[in-house]
Amino acid sequence: WLRYVPIKNKSLLLEYKKQIVSPVVLGTSATAAIARKELSVALLGLTGSSYLINSNINTSSVFIAGTVKSSAVLSALVTKEELNRIGNEGFIIKAKPGKTFITGNTDLAVLYGIFHYLRLLQTNQKVINLNVISIPKLKLRMLNHWDNLNRTVERGYAGFSIWDWHRLPTFIDQRYIDYARANASIGINAVALTNVNANSIILTPAYLEKVKKLADVFRPYGIKVFLTARFSSPIELGRLKTADPLDAIVQQWWTAKANEIYSLIPDFGGFLVKANSEGQPGPQDYKRTHADGANMLANAVAPHKGIVIWRAFVYAAENPVDRHMQANDDFVPLDGKFNSNVMVQVKNGAIDFMPREPFHPLFGAMPKTPLMMEFQVTQEYLGQATNWVFLAPLFKEVLDSDTYAKGKGSTVAKVIDGSLDDHTLTGMTGVANIGNDINWTGHPMAQANWYALGRLAWDYNITSDTIADEWLRMTFSNDAAFVKSTKQIMLRTREIMVDYMNPIGLHHIMATGHHYGPGPWVSNLNRPEWNPVYYHKADSVGIGFNRTASGSNAIGQYHPEARKQWENISTCNEKYLLWFHHASWNHKMKSGRSVWNELVYRYYTGADSVKWMKQEWLKQQSKIDAQRFNDVSMLLDTQLEEAKWWRNACLLYFQTFSKQPIPSNYEQPDKT
Ligand code: GCU
Repeated sequence: WLRYVPIKNKSLLLEYKKQIVSPVVLGTSATAAIARKELSVALLGLTGSSYLINSNINTSSVFIAGTVKSSAVLSALVTKEELNRIGNEGFIIKAKPGKTFITGNTDLAVLYGIFHYLRLLQTNQKVINLNVISIPKLKLRMLNHWDNLNRTVERGYAGFSIWDWHRLPTFIDQRYIDYARANASIGINAVALTNVNANSIILTPAYLEKVKKLADVFRPYGIKVFLTARFSSPIELGRLKTADPLDAIVQQWWTAKANEIYSLIPDFGGFLVKANSEGQPGPQDYKRTHADGANMLANAVAPHKGIVIWRAFVYAAENPVDRHMQANDDFVPLDGKFNSNVMVQVKNGAIDFMPREPFHPLFGAMPKTPLMMEFQVTQEYLGQATNWVFLAPLFKEVLDSDTYAKGKGSTVAKVIDGSLDDHTLTGMTGVANIGNDINWTGHPMAQANWYALGRLAWDYNITSDTIADEWLRMTFSNDAAFVKSTKQIMLRTREIMVDYMNPIGLHHIMATGHHYGPGPWVSNLNRPEWNPVYYHKADSVGIGFNRTASGSNAIGQYHPEARKQWENISTCNEKYLLWFHHASWNHKMKSGRSVWNELVYRYYTGADSVKWMKQEWLKQQSKIDAQRFNDVSMLLDTQLEEAKWWRNACLLYFQTFSKQPIPSNYEQPDKT
């Protein structure tokens, strides 16, 4: 989306040229130099004219960017109150005919302001009169790379890792710089470089030198580096006999390791930890709690102002009744026991990044602990790199959900932005979908999800429509018909996918292990909660997981008002019907259809809608370059095949329980 292609609209171009004369970006820092470079590259691309970006104001300067401290002209524009409000990262843009000012408290804020301004140009907006104050709602706006040191990427579908560990620290790939630019342009300011299933080798001196190099590249773009810490590192690297968090020698080992890291990277963000989950080591191996483990690491990084991000994605074989409940069972009793520099990172839902999940019951259940949102940008369970799905609507559905923790309006967004419970550590992360593919994300349309994550972490109130609009204009074209039609596709993709994969609350029926394609019949894995049959529970009576009081009672982990929307089968929001209820095949839906017929209807509508996506896309051929047009076109053919595969596999399998026909007005599924 930083293509900076020539602006076609002649009158707008003229307006922009009048408005941007002798541009100045004040400041001597590396960040200010980056802002000047970005502006000059962008203006050359957008306007076709080359601009010298000055670093001093002269008499002809009418476009001035810089911190308030750098010029009296800029400081005169803003009030003390505004300056306090915008903090270190917020920015202010003011423009009137022939004058434009971009300012903030830091060079980074100014860089953010410049990227915002460039977005206005890229999306062909008017810039003669502007009065923008933009302040990020969350402090940490992060990407989690699940990248291994051998460059494979766990759940990565866009090639290999962009971190070329072999050639670091000497060789700085241009990709690192472009990655940093892309992130800064959407406000992402933190990155965990390594897989949560961590390898302790990353903490060895040779690797820390490499990490330092990446941190040096990212620093002027405002991006802090985090590492995943394998809990057993003191044993593996330090040759200690234990990794018990209450053992003084273990504590000293981590303190020394933190000191070593900070001596190389003084602004190191801290550690991201997956512990006692899916076989990873953790404090429970020593009969200690998650809080004991997190606090030990938090003590090690605290003198350097580092933080620990401790993941709440835990489930173990000991909890065969309902995996849904384990995170709350483990973490709620620890509320208030974490050090002040610990955040608990919670996946958006209690199972695992499904096409649709109710919000995680931990949101609203740990008021004394800052909770960080974890979304998955990479499409592990959403068709991976062959399916086009725009995730902003999914992210927003979760953020807008009401936990009712402190009455109506206690949305998940207000939990994570700290406003509900008065926290200052706040954040949102996305499991990255980035790899070394030429288009970064595998599916050309998947870049929109990286973009959406950044934009929503900055401001979760931005609509999905706006995000899609901006991204399409910058990435493809400002052609009005193209934007309208393609945006319409984007905004529907998520519901379409839910229909052909996991309608009315079905979940985790993907094939096991790789999670690609359908596998609802799998029942032979020795961990019960890895088998899809555990989740759909289809039998001769009906289908769905009874999580109400008469079942696992996972619903009891939600606040009563939130529970109400799902509790009663006859009033349950049908998007979540089979998530919370075991409904009989003949249970009547609001549509008048039975559950069985509703499933048929949804699976068919979903697959047919992919045909519609393809038809709409074909209309865009003349609007964009042939390569990307063809790429998306071919991928839509694959997506259609996969949607039909999902439909046929799921309906034919569930039919063995429902014993009901697929109504004759539907094309009958191919049983092969
Ligand atoms: C999912 C995913 C794993 C990942 C895990 C996690 O289960 O399939 O690959 O490690 O989530 O988030 O830790």
